[in-house]
Amino acid sequence: MIAAASPFDALAATYDEDFTRTDLGRRLRSAVWRHLDATFAPGARVLELGCGTGEDALHLASRGVRVVATDASGEMVAETVRKAGAANLSHLVEARRVPFEELDAAGPSLGTFDGAFSNFGALNCAAALPPVAEALGRLLPSGAPLLLVVMGRWVPWEWAFYLRRGDGARAFRRLRRDGTVWRGLTVRYPSPGRLLRTFSPWFLRRRLAALGVFLPPSYAASSVSPSTLARLDRWERRIESAPLLPRLADHTLFVLERR
Ligand SMILES: C[S@@+](CC[C@H](N)C(=O)[O-])C[C@H]1O[C@@H](n2cnc3c(N)ncnc32)[C@H](O)[C@@H]1O
Repeated sequence: MIAAASPFDALAATYDEDFTRTDLGRRLRSAVWRHLDATFAPGARVLELGCGTGEDALHLASRGVRVVATDASGEMVAETVRKAGAANLSHLVEARRVPFEELDAAGPSLGTFDGAFSNFGALNCAAALPPVAEALGRLLPSGAPLLLVVMGRWVPWEWAFYLRRGDGARAFRRLRRDGTVWRGLTVRYPSPGRLLRTFSPWFLRRRLAALGVFLPPSYAASSVSPSTLARLDRWERRIESAPLLPRLADHTLFVLERR
């Protein structure tokens, strides 16, 4: 069967240049890595959903974590394979084209895992979250950690940025009941409460953290000077888990645990 093209295929070649290697991209990812490193020990076998160009898989592999990195985009998977080879980490990173929607069916062929994660809004692209939560519930053993970084629903930064430009539709696009359409793909923005309820039959909530509550969303990063970005990053990291902040961020990081 020929795999359907993904709208992310066209972004694979430039994704790292456009996001990963930017000042903001590095700051956000290193904040996520602190949580990933505290969660997954060397020797663990971990499933990644929506791996993109494999930046997180490579980071974990460089610490001795084995990662099965999955994505719906064949081009993103190819980029992950290429980067793992270039970094001599192919023995620790297995990249496979598995859309969320096929996770349950692929499950038995994926093997067993000590935990799973998904970074930077991949899950916002899922056609529906409950089947993903259920599939992960089946794949992970009791006590296994699940770390999710999901685009938030209420983002004051975004409201202020677009309202100042007179663009009310964009300012509040995340609140649309049916999500927003990007390159033919529907992107949904569940509230943190809704996401937690969706996963709660299988997963316990451990921690939440804000990513991009003081730091701007990526499209607004050029409106902030590098020194201000550094200062916002310092403040944000100090209080990233303070009450309410994770609920008002561009991305929310959820640390869950399989019941
Ligand atoms: C914004 S990128 C994030 C990539 C990566 N996690 C990172 O941290 O840079 C979103 C990723 O989700 C993937 N994705 C979108 N829809 C998906 C689906 N239905 N199943 C699996 N992956 C999907 C895209 O191909 C893309 O690589």
